[in-house]
Amino acid sequence: MQDRVRGICERFDRDLRDARDAASLAAVRVRYLGRKEGLVTALLRDLRELSPAERAAAGKSVNELKTHVETGLEGAAALALPGTSGPGLPPLDLSLPGRVQRPGVPHPLNRVRALVEEIFLEMGFALESGPEIETDYYNFEALNIPPNHPARDSQDTFYVEGGLLLRTHTSPVQVRAMERRQPPLKVVAIGKVFRRDPFDATHSPMFHQIEGLVVGEGITFAHLKGTLEQFCRRVFDGGVRLRLRPSYFPFVEPGAEYDVSCIFCQGRGCGRCKGSGWIEMGGTGMVHPAVFEHVGYDPERYTGFAFGLGIERIAMLRYGIDDIRLFFDNDLRFLTQCPE
Ligand code: FA5
Repeated sequence: MQDRVRGICERFDRDLRDARDAASLAAVRVRYLGRKEGLVTALLRDLRELSPAERAAAGKSVNELKTHVETGLEGAAALALPGTSGPGLPPLDLSLPGRVQRPGVPHPLNRVRALVEEIFLEMGFALESGPEIETDYYNFEALNIPPNHPARDSQDTFYVEGGLLLRTHTSPVQVRAMERRQPPLKVVAIGKVFRRDPFDATHSPMFHQIEGLVVGEGITFAHLKGTLEQFCRRVFDGGVRLRLRPSYFPFVEPGAEYDVSCIFCQGRGCGRCKGSGWIEMGGTGMVHPAVFEHVGYDPERYTGFAFGLGIERIAMLRYGIDDIRLFFDNDLRFLTQCPE
């Protein structure tokens, strides 16, 4: 009996190896497991002829053979993928290249985010983060924007339950970072922000900002300008110029808005920069002493600068995109064509 089992096992392995398609696999199944003529079925039937002592030993090997045959057939059937083999089709050729799987690409905003992070990490900044649902204290009050302050109007706010709000800018992370750390510090935070703005070609009610903060002894406006200049040159690959214009944000003093020379016309003036030669990037300034007081830093000892800007605006400039809504339409024809 043991010799019969071994012989059938060897023959099955050969037959399975030679089965080239689904039809020959089916024939192998019938040859070994067929209900009437199957070689393994016959073995099981013949067990009945044996004495109880012989049956115990032989039964074990016949059952093992049956499992071996079933597993072998299942494995081979799994390899014979639909459409690649079967009656009337060419035999399965495992050496052929696989079916084309289109690899995904990072979203253009994530690419810009990764680039921005890389630039600031190279400049020695640490990454910080804060919640998207904020308290009034972090989003406004600690940033020197008390209730009824007119600056609240420029950042029309989505309020949620429990007196909370969707942060209107990433500046609250300044306060959280200063509470967590002691000077000197150099941090950057990137994340989503929300405003009740119209959804048009240049505004979105949800967009992404970058916030930078540097605090230490002897930090000056020159450090601010040098840092922004270095950042803008890296992000726009080369010779852009930086311009600072006086502006007002309650949490900085002096405050400024900063522009880069138009990357489309090199500052000569074109439709994209509305003929001015400059493109607006964001806000900046020296940290207001009132903000230091909120976090317990000594404003007599420490100075610092902060800046904020929109990721979408950078991506629109880098990739020459004229409608911010394209980033959120989830149209693969758009999302896969932005160059590196
Ligand atoms: C602020 O949000 C300040 N927190 C920036 C700041 C930080 C100033 C630190 C001083 C110190 P502002 O509201 O200007 O500033 O927004 C900054 C940038 O966000 C804008 O320049 C623009 O690039 C982008 N932005 C603003 N609103 C939208 C919007 N609705 N859709 C897309 N991008 C926007």
